[in-house]
Amino acid sequence: MNYQTNLSEISKQVKNFGVIKKENWLDQEDIKKTKLIIEKINCDKGNNDGIFYLNLKFKIIELLKLKFEKISYEKYFVNLSKKLGLKKIADQIFDFPSKLHRVDCYSNPISNAPVLDWHVDNAYSGQKVVDKFLNPENSAIKFFFYLSDVYTDNGCLSYIPKSHLVAFALRKGIYEKAIRYTPYWSLSDFRKTILIKENLNYIKSHLKKEDLDDFLSYSEFIEKENSNNKKYDLAVKCGGAVVFDEGGVHRGSKLLKTNRLALRFFFTRDKKF
Ligand SMILES: [Fe+2]
Repeated sequence: MNYQTNLSEISKQVKNFGVIKKENWLDQEDIKKTKLIIEKINCDKGNNDGIFYLNLKFKIIELLKLKFEKISYEKYFVNLSKKLGLKKIADQIFDFPSKLHRVDCYSNPISNAPVLDWHVDNAYSGQKVVDKFLNPENSAIKFFFYLSDVYTDNGCLSYIPKSHLVAFALRKGIYEKAIRYTPYWSLSDFRKTILIKENLNYIKSHLKKEDLDDFLSYSEFIEKENSNNKKYDLAVKCGGAVVFDEGGVHRGSKLLKTNRLALRFFFTRDKKF
């Protein structure tokens, strides 16, 4: 398989299933350099030095703060993104020109803190009342590169296939006021919301029956067992990545064994088109 075919295959999988993982994506030199940057920035969670917004305002602020080193890291990450063809992949997933909106890198220390359980992003944190609903097209494709091994109970992401399709239809219905909003942040609330008769009718008219049925069957475990289902855990080795549509149902895992080093690229639709 040549490199280009590989990129199209990634887009196709993310479009259809919401997620894909790819091992051995970064080469040894990029792994080394990225690890070094994370170490230098000392970007534990809460330290904004590991966050880069790709807009002029952000760059001017960094220049005013005389953060030249940070600007050189930004340049390296932007070039890395180009080398890996990430924009092309995001364009194909959106069927629309995308832009690199944010890059961040950080290190998470070992911890047995409770994880964020199964949920969807862009769900107003489960608030009961929401004033302004977001356009469903305002969501991002995330490229989550790992600079350490992640696996079950050690920092991996879990993702329910096809959940992004159902979530998109739901958000679209709410945005168009065809569906009444009820909180849907957690997986169990999400299922309850989509199974409301009127909502289900709308979703069915915007989605292939097969996709909806698959999602309902993949996520059924939440009604029966406890939510600690490992089936959708995405173990990835250092240098690999997970690409996913942030609109789908996902969760993080505990980090019991090793620190986790990560580099993330967020792509959104480019509004200038
Ligand atoms: Fe999330």
